[in-house]
Amino acid sequence: MNSSFRFSSDTEIAAAADLIRHGHLVVVPTETVYGLAADATNAEAVAKIFEVKGRPSNNPLIVHVGSIDDIFRYSDITRSFDPKLVGSRIRALAPLWPGPLSVILPKGREIADTVCAGGDSVALRIPRHSVTLRLIELCQRPLAAPSANPSMYISPTTSRHARDMLGNQVPCILEGGPCTVGLESTVLSLLDETPTILRPGAITAEEISGLLACEVSITSHTSAGSSPALLLSPGLLAKHYAPRTPVILLPELKSITPLPKKIGVIMFSNNTLPCPAEVVERLSHTGDVEQIAAKLFAALHSLDDMGLDLIVVDTCEPSGLGAAIMDRLIRASHRA
Ligand code: TXA
Ligand code: MG
Repeated sequence: MNSSFRFSSDTEIAAAADLIRHGHLVVVPTETVYGLAADATNAEAVAKIFEVKGRPSNNPLIVHVGSIDDIFRYSDITRSFDPKLVGSRIRALAPLWPGPLSVILPKGREIADTVCAGGDSVALRIPRHSVTLRLIELCQRPLAAPSANPSMYISPTTSRHARDMLGNQVPCILEGGPCTVGLESTVLSLLDETPTILRPGAITAEEISGLLACEVSITSHTSAGSSPALLLSPGLLAKHYAPRTPVILLPELKSITPLPKKIGVIMFSNNTLPCPAEVVERLSHTGDVEQIAAKLFAALHSLDDMGLDLIVVDTCEPSGLGAAIMDRLIRASHRA
């Protein structure tokens, strides 16, 4: 992350807002990962997202808005199981926004059906990034934006990652520096009485449960096959976020004999290396999960570009932010 950058200027953001209003795509920075954005009320613009990403049309997109009022505007909580309770839950979560939390609610009629993959619910969040909040303000549109990577590949955490992967297919990439969180948002369904986390992220079940003063369930979608979350959220495939190079988690290393020649290792602390390595990335000296999360995808991108035979990745305690880190790593190392 040593490349120099300056955030896109207001003039550049205004030009991007024009592109959005005319149905074009723009790559946008967020605190989690870079997104590939289009006007969520324009079905043709949204279709371009699926085309450029090669994304299956049954995998719904997250819509980015600028305020809590917009969360109400682009959902329809009158169709909730309990409109009053759901309204109060949204307001109770307000301290987490702008931030890495997406909530699933009954879809409002302004949102194009294709955003929701033909379903009746929509995921909404307020991203914590000045460039994209300004873009939303200037274009006055909700922005449908999945991560700006080809479907099934690792999400981009710098504009450079997005440019390398999609640059020739998108007319504008806004610059917002390296993503500070580095893992995709927590996806929380508010469709039922018990709020349910469908994808772990930097906002944890404990934080949500504290604010909502109720139990929050977590569906495990890291196992392949018949996980209930696959039905709830068709995009939550077991294999996802995967580099081209085979990835294994450090505890599995002993099962690999003989070891291949060119190995890259990603370590989470100053522990000694588990095997001889061509290249080593240490994401933290002390196992600090925030540092690890912020640097993980950049390390995977960089090692994946080196023509290695194998990438070995350290593991951490799967609680709090560590649960989101391990979720992504289990997917990246899943050999489907
Ligand atoms: O941090 C993020 O969430 C990033 C940035 C760009 O905001 N976006 C992102 O989008 O990760 P994407 O498309 O890569 O992941 C969206 C996830 C998918 O797993 C999808 O299945 C789920 O959210 N999702 C979206 N709408 C849903 C809905 N209505 N019901 C269930 N799951 C939904
Ligand atoms: Mg994605």
